Amino acid sequence: MFPNLESTSAALNARARKSLAGGGSRSTIRTNPYTLYIRDAQGAEVVDVDGNHLLDFINNYTSLIHGHSYPPIVEAVRGQLPRGSAFSFCHESEIDLAELLCERVPSFERVRFMNSGSEAVMNAIKLARAFTGRPKIAKCDGFYHGSYDFAEVSLSSGPEHWLQEDPPSLAYSRGTPQSVLDEVVVIPFNEPQHSQRILERHAQTLSCIVVDTTCMRLGGNLVREDYVTMLKDISRRNGILLVYDEVVSFRLGYSGSQGVLGVIPDVTALGKIIGGGFPVGAVAGRADVMSMFDSPADGVAPLPHGGTFNANPITMSAGLAAMKDMTPDAFESLNLMGGKAREAMTNVFTESGVIGQVTGVGSFFKLHLHDRPITTVQDAGVSSEGQQQLATLRANLIDAGIFLGSGCFGCLSTATTDTHIERLCTALAGALRKIDG
Ligand SMILES: Cc1ncc(COP(=O)(O)O)c(C=O)c1O
Repeated sequence: MFPNLESTSAALNARARKSLAGGGSRSTIRTNPYTLYIRDAQGAEVVDVDGNHLLDFINNYTSLIHGHSYPPIVEAVRGQLPRGSAFSFCHESEIDLAELLCERVPSFERVRFMNSGSEAVMNAIKLARAFTGRPKIAKCDGFYHGSYDFAEVSLSSGPEHWLQEDPPSLAYSRGTPQSVLDEVVVIPFNEPQHSQRILERHAQTLSCIVVDTTCMRLGGNLVREDYVTMLKDISRRNGILLVYDEVVSFRLGYSGSQGVLGVIPDVTALGKIIGGGFPVGAVAGRADVMSMFDSPADGVAPLPHGGTFNANPITMSAGLAAMKDMTPDAFESLNLMGGKAREAMTNVFTESGVIGQVTGVGSFFKLHLHDRPITTVQDAGVSSEGQQQLATLRANLIDAGIFLGSGCFGCLSTATTDTHIERLCTALAGALRKIDG
């Protein structure tokens, strides 16, 4: 089944390369030797154009908390579509979704919507600069926050940098101006002492510290509490804003990961699940900070923010339908299922004799082909040979009808059942036998 160079997907990849730059519009979803094209998706399952059925354990990179084509979302969108899909007026659903979010998360006093997690991080950073009047930002070495060039700095740093106590600001993409690198202070994730020393050196020029509370590259575990406590203290003492990137980690609970951590940010970047499967981003936070978006009656806001599709009524209706059904009980059972899945896969590793581990929190999981404890970026780092082994494991799983994200990262949805987890474990046992043999 995979790979099959005679497949319709393989042919579509070849056709796509003739009209689409890079053969597609999303670098992060590529699989080798070709990317699958999907014909249909329902619940936990997708069917590709060749008729292959796959259990989807990545759910559009965590954004589909109810899986595919969740009936209440389909119904909400069906209700809105004939009444208009985009207009240059406001729509009540925007207030409804903002109210739902503010009711659930104490640090959300105001919300502003946009169209992607990348835009959310970008606007959170611009907001922090506008509010503090300071130019620099701090971010963790090796962390992904979407495609804003400031947020991309040091995303692809390698092992040679992780061993350094002062990680350098490195360009991710060709053409990044030196001026961007100069404004980004890079700190080592989960290393409070080194990070504190670096942050104190730049404290008077920093507008914000951006941190993802569950880094997927590390295995989807929650950030160390003493680390975020240190970030919070240093921010408060120096007038810096603490920004959580909860584009992914908002999945952790009714009040996001901040509800679990108990350390509260000033501003949060959101995306993914709050759009119910449609393009979305949002910035939420303290009212005084968010007031940078307020326009006086006779002028422009300190931080003007336009966007043709911001708070699009289709997205807002879908997001509202998705989030309404994520009650505290729904989050609890999803997270319990996540724990069950991690435990079952850990047993598969033990029985297979292949060295590895399963990490993650809530509904996240990640497979690793090593067993060292993972707290820092160094711990998670794998050689190019290790990355190749993970890619092979992923391909073996696709061949067995299981789809995980790159690096064998995955997540569940409310559509995931015990049977799906059993099928995942059976496929994993077979896939591990193949790489072992
Ligand atoms: C932590 C984090 N922040 C930001 C983003 C960017 O979100 P989007 O892909 O919607 O632009 C992502 C995307 O995966 C992410 O994982």
